[in-house]
Amino acid sequence: MKKLWGGRFEGKTDSLVEALGESVSFDQRLAPWDIRGSIAHARMLGDCGIISKADAKKIIAGLTEIGKEIEAGKFRFDIALEDVHMNVEAALAKRIGDAGKRLHTGRSRNDQCATDTRLWARDQIDAILGLLVGIERALAEFAGAHIDVILPGCTHMQNAQPVLLAHHLLAYVEMFARDHERFGELRSRVNVLPLGSAALAGTTYPIDREQVAKELGFDGISANSMDAVSDRDYLIEFCANASIAMMHLSRLSEELVLWSGPAYGFVVIGDAFTTGSSIMPQKKNPDVAELVRGKTGRVYGSLTALLTMMKGLPLTYNRDMQEDKEPAFDASDTLQLCLATTSRMLPSIKVNREAMREATKEGFLEATDLADYLVGKGMPFREAHEVVGKLVLYCSQRGKRFAELSTGEFAAASPLFTRDIFAILSPEAIVARRDNPGGTAPKRVKAALRATLKRLGAGSRK
Ligand code: ARG
Repeated sequence: MKKLWGGRFEGKTDSLVEALGESVSFDQRLAPWDIRGSIAHARMLGDCGIISKADAKKIIAGLTEIGKEIEAGKFRFDIALEDVHMNVEAALAKRIGDAGKRLHTGRSRNDQCATDTRLWARDQIDAILGLLVGIERALAEFAGAHIDVILPGCTHMQNAQPVLLAHHLLAYVEMFARDHERFGELRSRVNVLPLGSAALAGTTYPIDREQVAKELGFDGISANSMDAVSDRDYLIEFCANASIAMMHLSRLSEELVLWSGPAYGFVVIGDAFTTGSSIMPQKKNPDVAELVRGKTGRVYGSLTALLTMMKGLPLTYNRDMQEDKEPAFDASDTLQLCLATTSRMLPSIKVNREAMREATKEGFLEATDLADYLVGKGMPFREAHEVVGKLVLYCSQRGKRFAELSTGEFAAASPLFTRDIFAILSPEAIVARRDNPGGTAPKRVKAALRATLKRLGAGSRK
């Protein structure tokens, strides 16, 4: 096998080393960003008189052609050339000769690959920001279309208090809005140019880093060449943010799996987002929600892989760091696919409002309100809690609900209970009383929904 940069070697590379060391099979997807970075670098070399303007022009034209070939799927990547950077550079030299061999002046693959992955990450972040707005909007629209639906809110997976379905869904909107914020903040840390750091110490050529940063749309240049070629925290943070967003998606998915099952019967997910069973003809399975929940694990895996890969590395670049790409690519692809699919699935869901309302009758959801009623009549809260607790025990021993008790039974629990107690028992009345900022009263939820839709109309949170 032909050896790359073989000048100082006498022997050949082992064939297994080629298989172990090649990254072009997966980093070829960086080609568009690699070419953009190289074009900016070549233009700067020409403008600064480090190479001739004529050579810079040839390089730019050659790279543009190679970029088109790659885009058209006509370019043949060769694993003997190790990575995307060497494949593009070798093709350029083949095409334009000596000028092509001048492209790598004043740079190293170390600052080059950091530049490529930062450009890639920036574009992925922009796509993810759009997808997060999309899922927030889908959730908000779904909430708006079911504004008067009530279901049991749970703690410990036990019925606790009735809430509006819209309130429940807007909780997820808050989560995805924070994910949006996190990716937005990460974008500014990603958008810094490492190129010009060369291998690790900077370069002897009179380069203009600001020019390259400007052409590539970076907000600024890295301050320390050793940090710039050896840090990968922007990819770790990318995977951390992706993990949190997947965790949010997974919780929503879990609820949809439960709600669509016969134990709940709260929702029916559309045919386009469910599948049948190969043996049981009656089945309609919530596979999309299950897969999103399942794929969350692999995104956490990416985060763990990157954290572990980096933890023992002394400065600066180490070859271990080539392992940064597959986890980051996979986390990005997985998150984007799951956000897009879930957003599309949401409008397909039919809500069984009767089943949800019926479920609020189980579990003594009015208990807190009964205690509050007694408090309103002057009883200290702790005492009221005790009285209502005993009433729950009384009811459960007789298989009764609060609404089925007589005025006399209420009065036996406490003389403070009078006929007006029945008026406060309906789920609508209970929900309407939670009328403080952040509460589930329809007035509050409608205002929250309006604010959310207004914010989303503007495109982003920021
Ligand atoms: N393919 C390599 C990577 O992704 C590029 C940098 C190689 N640098 C080196 N000194 N071997 O990490």
